[in-house]
Amino acid sequence: MLQQAFLLVIFVTLAATSPIEITPFVVNGTDARIEEFPFLVSLQWRFNDSTFIHYCGGTILNKDWVLTAAHCLNDDDPTTNQIEYGTTVISHGSKGINTVYFERTIIHEKFDPFTLFHDIGLIKTKSPMTIVLFEYKVKLPIPSDYFSTGTPAVLAGWGRTGTDAEISTILQKVSYQIYSQSDCADLHEEEIHYNNICAGIEGGYKGQCKGDSGGPLLVDGVQVGIVSWSNKPCAEPPYPGVFTAVAPYINWIKENTMLNIKLRMFIQIKD
Ligand SMILES: *[C@@H]1O[C@H](CO)[C@@H](O)[C@H](O)[C@H]1NC(C)=O
Ligand SMILES: *[C@@H]1O[C@H](CO)[C@@H](O)[C@H](O)[C@H]1NC(C)=O
Repeated sequence: MLQQAFLLVIFVTLAATSPIEITPFVVNGTDARIEEFPFLVSLQWRFNDSTFIHYCGGTILNKDWVLTAAHCLNDDDPTTNQIEYGTTVISHGSKGINTVYFERTIIHEKFDPFTLFHDIGLIKTKSPMTIVLFEYKVKLPIPSDYFSTGTPAVLAGWGRTGTDAEISTILQKVSYQIYSQSDCADLHEEEIHYNNICAGIEGGYKGQCKGDSGGPLLVDGVQVGIVSWSNKPCAEPPYPGVFTAVAPYINWIKENTMLNIKLRMFIQIKD
């Protein structure tokens, strides 16, 4: 009860006074298909029994666990929220078909809702997600991976197509490149933490907006970042998007899910 009240306070406070806008959807992206990003899911809050509203993205670690941003989990009762998965077009506004409820959420113990430091969290699903058509587990970087300035990257999500626009029910993607930490810090007044990774597109007008939060930044199909925040209005130059880097949190993910990881050129959860 205490914890629920605390989370509710954070949620309300964040909405009202956070110095950082935590609302990163894809602006000026192109239509994508779920087969390209089979691990991508939509987090949806319950409006009533038949209506669920998309509010964040996430990625599938295995059939029971989803990775997302901590700021997507500040809810008083997460068990009424659902995950919609395995679909290009989300049902936003109805119940959906491939859906599963949250069982519980794990927010990084050092998450700071004001600076969005350690903006990473996990969702355990109430029942297993059943995806049979394709390999759906996201690939994660190994802890020592480093992604240099200019590396091509891809962002995908169902976020808003403009600051005041509607969310997109059709999955969108946009090509980005990795920015250097120091350029990213110089461009922003807000603090860029050592566990952030920044990516954007020179010239702007394409990129993340409200509702993309929690979704993935990918390099060669490996999730290197989690959408955390961006300057507003969405995609306005010269600001790149700010992400939680995934590589430094591999052990945190392992300890909190108790899942076995499979180490190759990248990391994936063993079933
Ligand atoms: C849920 O809300 C929607 C949108 O307002 C409405 O159309 C629908 O009838 C409601 N359903 C229930 C079960 O209350
Ligand atoms: C989308 O791109 C067009 C053309 O480059 C630009 O005029 C428009 O401002 C962009 N939309 C947003 C919301 O940035």
